[in-house]
Amino acid sequence: MLTLLFYLYENLASSLHFFDKLKGSDYLTNTGAVLMTQFTGKHVLSVAQFEREAIEKVFLVADSMIPYALRKKRTQVLEGAILGNLFFEPSTRTRVSFGTAFNLLGGEVRETTGMRNSALAKGESLYDTARVLSGYSDIIAMRHPQEDSVAEFAEGSRVPVINGGDGTNEHPTQALLDLYTIEKERKFHDEGIDGLNIAMIGDLKYGRTVHSLSKLLCLYKDLHFTFISPQELSMPTYICDMIANAGHKLTITDQLEGSFNADICYQTRIQEERFPSQDEANKYRGKFRLNQQTYTKHFQSKTVIMHPLPRDSRAQANELDNDLNLNPNLAIFRQTDNGVLVRMALFALTLGVEDKVSDFDRPVNWYSNKGQS
Ligand code: CP
Repeated sequence: MLTLLFYLYENLASSLHFFDKLKGSDYLTNTGAVLMTQFTGKHVLSVAQFEREAIEKVFLVADSMIPYALRKKRTQVLEGAILGNLFFEPSTRTRVSFGTAFNLLGGEVRETTGMRNSALAKGESLYDTARVLSGYSDIIAMRHPQEDSVAEFAEGSRVPVINGGDGTNEHPTQALLDLYTIEKERKFHDEGIDGLNIAMIGDLKYGRTVHSLSKLLCLYKDLHFTFISPQELSMPTYICDMIANAGHKLTITDQLEGSFNADICYQTRIQEERFPSQDEANKYRGKFRLNQQTYTKHFQSKTVIMHPLPRDSRAQANELDNDLNLNPNLAIFRQTDNGVLVRMALFALTLGVEDKVSDFDRPVNWYSNKGQS
């Protein structure tokens, strides 16, 4: 009798989950991603889910989070909610900024870091892990070294899942915060994203942030992309095709030579953890270093310098020299600050509280100088 009851309960739960998923899948793209026509209860797995209208919505909500990030006030709108922050691959800023964003909205964070500390190391499937952990959380952020693993995990999850990076495939929240930063930097010069001239430099093959950002930028008009990388680390062909099909101008070179009329110079790290061997990765280390001298030689005086970070500051690499730290066009730490705003916006939207955040405002009781930095 008990077994029968349990069987019925399990199947009822699965059926409800199935219908929940159908309800959430109001529109599928040709890549199978659910478009963000509305956000509540949705997984955020790929930039393919975003059209311009959805991006503008995220940015509007991100702007509304600025007073909370600057500690002018705080909110308890997610009091009682739990974020499962699952990072099966190294991370500093994505993991901590997801946690910080959730805390700033009043929620609590439970973390799992590293594959070896999880039951995945004992052969547990992503589906089982998702079924279990989604019972403990209201939303999950996840990074995993395998391509498409976060989407596979989401299949088993009963709560929204946000992709914090899946192998070489995608890093959608990084792309959104990069685009948010580009929009802000362009506004500073009274310009928009349409018409942007962007140079991407470094490991464009394994760098998932440049893959996701390029796809998002294809939604805008009349862009000029310049890809500068060793031939072996060039941008995947399908992304170059996507850019060409969207009618943008594309220049590909393996030389950092001459002058680039770029509004944005987006530098990336050699993703040595994705190479077949360390020796193979070492071949490319230190290619295309950017310091104040090379910046002045190849870029405009107003070219904004971006990097998803971490930058490899070891002497052999030194891909973005510390002598650029005082250059006002270096936007790398504005990017990391913006990451908190964009992740707060995604949590508020996927949990359906974006219009209620200020209803739960509280004063800030401690000294803070964040508003002045
Ligand atoms: N940009 C980024 O993904 O950094 P982390 O690897 O530190 O999360």
